Amino acid sequence: MTLDDFSLYARRRVDNYLTQHLGQYAPASHLQSAMTYSLFNGGKRVRPMLTYAAASLFGEANLLTDASAAAIESIHAYSLIHDDLPAMDDDELRRGKPTCHIQFDEATAILAGDALQTFAFELLSQKTHNKADLQLLLIQELVHASGRHGMVTGQMIDLSNVGKNIDINALEQMHQHKTGALIRASIRMGAISTGAKNEKDFAALDAYANAIGLAFQVQDDIIDITSDTTTLGKTQFSDEEANKPTYPKLLGLEGAQALALNLHDQAIESISPFGDAAQPLVELANYIIGRNH
Ligand code: IPE
Ligand code: IPE
Ligand code: MG
Ligand code: MG
Ligand code: MG
Repeated sequence: MTLDDFSLYARRRVDNYLTQHLGQYAPASHLQSAMTYSLFNGGKRVRPMLTYAAASLFGEANLLTDASAAAIESIHAYSLIHDDLPAMDDDELRRGKPTCHIQFDEATAILAGDALQTFAFELLSQKTHNKADLQLLLIQELVHASGRHGMVTGQMIDLSNVGKNIDINALEQMHQHKTGALIRASIRMGAISTGAKNEKDFAALDAYANAIGLAFQVQDDIIDITSDTTTLGKTQFSDEEANKPTYPKLLGLEGAQALALNLHDQAIESISPFGDAAQPLVELANYIIGRNH
């Protein structure tokens, strides 16, 4: 499968699953509109692609794979709604459209983020999956990656270092939490959803995930400078304007680009034991490093 075909396949599966389960909740149609707006306004679906690619190493994707992909994308959508709020990055453009709090209002955006967060766990904990052991493992992965051990702590480090000079270790720690943790969970949850258990396999996937997760945010920092607002779908130079600690700031643009390439090579090397079956993960690593939006 080419990357385009794979991306279409993953997008169809996760979008169908999200649409089926989001449904309508009549008493709060405004909330529902804001959740739908932020879930379906043009995200690249990189994390679901990683989930399906990891699952494909071990077997056919199943309903738990779909629930995992949908849950991760839901946490991701929530994290971006809150990230854009005036109290955080104060951004008005996301995916080429007004951010959630501009399209709706701040209170609705906060609540839509809250609801998307719990929606993720609604999907993973459904009784109908009837696989309590795997469901608990998946929930634990996502809790760890999204909460105080992961994304939320990364966001806290990011915001508390505005205007400060932090060293390379602190910057890496921030990135691994802010973005790396959820990317790592996307990959691990894909494997778990198929019943994968082999520790060696997880060690190889973790090494891939750590490299690619960090590379994803390094590239995000790079394109904030190198892509224009139309290409990005978010405002160019917003990190610069907000005085954010970023890799290009610390290493220079070329240094950051070299680091991204280096992490890419590490990622590919880590999954070589899987042979041809890892082709989708290899192509996703290429895509993550090559992306301009
Ligand atoms: C953007 O993530 C925010 C980061 C974590 C760097 P994506 O680049 O995956 O955002 P969408 O979902 O495709 O818009
Ligand atoms: C956001 O990082 C990461 C999370 C939402 C967890 P950024 O603030 O760099 O993301 P963008 O550039 O606004 O998409
Ligand atoms: Mg931010
Ligand atoms: Mg931001
Ligand atoms: Mg950014």
